Amino acid sequence: MPVSIVIGSQWGDEGKGRFIDYLSESCDFVVRFNGSNNAGHTVINKFGKFALHLIPSGIFSEKTKACIGNGTVIDLAALITEVEMLEKAGINLKDRLLISPRCHLILPYHKVLEQFYEKARGKDKIGTTGRGNGPAYADKITRNGIRLIDLLDKKQFSEKLTLELSLKNKVIKALGGKPLDLKTIEKTFFTLRAKIMPYVSEPFPYLQDGLKNNKNILLEGAQAIFLDNDWGTYPYVTSSTVLPGGSNAGAGIPPTKINKIIGVVKAYTTRVGEGPFPTELDDLVGKKLRTAGNEFGATTGRPRRCGWFDAELLRFAVQINGFSEMALTKIDVLDNFSEIKICTGYTLNGKQVNYYNGDAKFLTKIKPVYKTLKGWQAKTRGITEYKNLPENAKHYIEEIEKQIGVSIKYVSTGPEREAMIIR
Ligand code: IMP
Repeated sequence: MPVSIVIGSQWGDEGKGRFIDYLSESCDFVVRFNGSNNAGHTVINKFGKFALHLIPSGIFSEKTKACIGNGTVIDLAALITEVEMLEKAGINLKDRLLISPRCHLILPYHKVLEQFYEKARGKDKIGTTGRGNGPAYADKITRNGIRLIDLLDKKQFSEKLTLELSLKNKVIKALGGKPLDLKTIEKTFFTLRAKIMPYVSEPFPYLQDGLKNNKNILLEGAQAIFLDNDWGTYPYVTSSTVLPGGSNAGAGIPPTKINKIIGVVKAYTTRVGEGPFPTELDDLVGKKLRTAGNEFGATTGRPRRCGWFDAELLRFAVQINGFSEMALTKIDVLDNFSEIKICTGYTLNGKQVNYYNGDAKFLTKIKPVYKTLKGWQAKTRGITEYKNLPENAKHYIEEIEKQIGVSIKYVSTGPEREAMIIR
């Protein structure tokens, strides 16, 4: 299995980071291809507990090269903070962290503009992570982006920044904001430039060489399918392509080379930010899920909205991503529930409907149909063999498989690297 890809199959925070950390032990390359430091991947291993936002979760396995592909957008200060955090923990990054010079940069005006956009939306705000991710991708598409490769040439960076600031400052001023100062940004970025230079190296030739020599490559998807810019609950989505196909554009991996597409799915559903959420539990059960699952954003600390497992969403996720197998996470969070529900489908005005039949507004009108299962009310935390799970936990897992039509190969029973069942 030389090329595998790990994709979130709900609204993010499925536990991709811990799962990638686990898989990367046998990988030569782990590659990010989308998103920015809007992502938050939590990893707990022998080095400690880490919240990674940009650096691939495979960085902890010594023989693995961690690549940040051209499809990601980078906040340099945040990236350097992460580099320093890892170095302090004793992780050697030299010749192991490769950042594509084609990556676009998040600049201070992206964050300022994002705040104005969100404010203007009022109650219809997206609830972004506030990292400037959307405006940075917008600039990339309109060809107003500034890339890491531009920063390598100071003169080129200054010329591009001068043009962009002349445009952005007009907008910022019109919106009532304070214009940004060219020299201040230049000074900050030239300092950051010196720190990041040792890691800037196009991963493409290394990955091509890896493909040729049958090396194991793991593509690390950020965010998740229902946050995908095209197929998610638009406009309550992120600004990149999170689908497996995004790795072709975002890391230069040909689609025909991907042999395994692993969907990571939480045993229940969560969402941060605004947007429709058909199985959301706005009650004590939802609160219990949040507390038991410690459902607070790894990036922003925001409390996550919680609800039951939604098989309608998952069937769509399976169809569009072509998952070959699933990893089910956080089953242990359900240990103390007497009843557990699974949403088996949606109806609208008494008629069965599907996720793809409508938009975000449509999803606020549909009614979820539930199947109730008995809980197991026993400890599953840390179990590493399927046969040792309580019978009702096995029923729950097998019911999910039946509903979504793909087998669950991995079941995680805790945040530690070892807390994993392989079936
Ligand atoms: P943005 O990506 O910061 O523009 O935010 C757009 C939407 O995606 C918001 O609802 C965010 O909460 C959500 N989002 C972005 N990244 C993540 C993530 O890594 N996990 C969960 N939600 C995310």
